[in-house]
Amino acid sequence: MAVREVKESGVGKSSIVLRFVSDSFKGALESTIGASFMTKRLEVGDVSYQFQIWDTAGQEKYRSLAPMYYRGASAAIIVYDITREATYRTVKDWVRELKRNCTADMVIAIAGNKSDLNDLREVRARDAEEYAQSIGALFIETSALSAVNVPHLFTAIAEGLP
Ligand code: GTP
Ligand code: MG
Repeated sequence: MAVREVKESGVGKSSIVLRFVSDSFKGALESTIGASFMTKRLEVGDVSYQFQIWDTAGQEKYRSLAPMYYRGASAAIIVYDITREATYRTVKDWVRELKRNCTADMVIAIAGNKSDLNDLREVRARDAEEYAQSIGALFIETSALSAVNVPHLFTAIAEGLP
């Protein structure tokens, strides 16, 4: 249990949402308790999208809550930390779970976060990209810290919606 807690917490889910919603970054963000909800309007071309975002908690003790937040969602973002291979390995479990419990038109995006820490990289972008392609998911590397590709992630999701 404890091992998994280390694996899935702290990949930067809340930081990505904070960057997207208020274009800011906090170095010492608290680990999410339960889940938190935020909204953000995004214009893509002529279309305006109102994102309603559930930021779920990565700690194992909250694991059983996840279905409440992804069920019925139009899209899901699975975030791993490019500097921790163990967080990438859990991506496949999440994909399996989403495919089992959600409709086929749900957009799945895989985000490799902390791309600013390239020197500490443990996951090759190409591997993640190939995997994402094989399951029909979007793939993008992001940095909530340096603001790289965060709006792009949400734009790509909007464009992928049915
Ligand atoms: P849980 O809520 O526990 O599941 O964690 P989380 O996935 O929401 O992670 P969170 O956003 O709280 O970030 C965890 C730590 O990683 C924090 O110290 C962040 O400052 C740091 N962090 C988040 N995104 C980045 C990033 O893009 N680059 C770097 N270098 N650090 C980041
Ligand atoms: Mg969080």
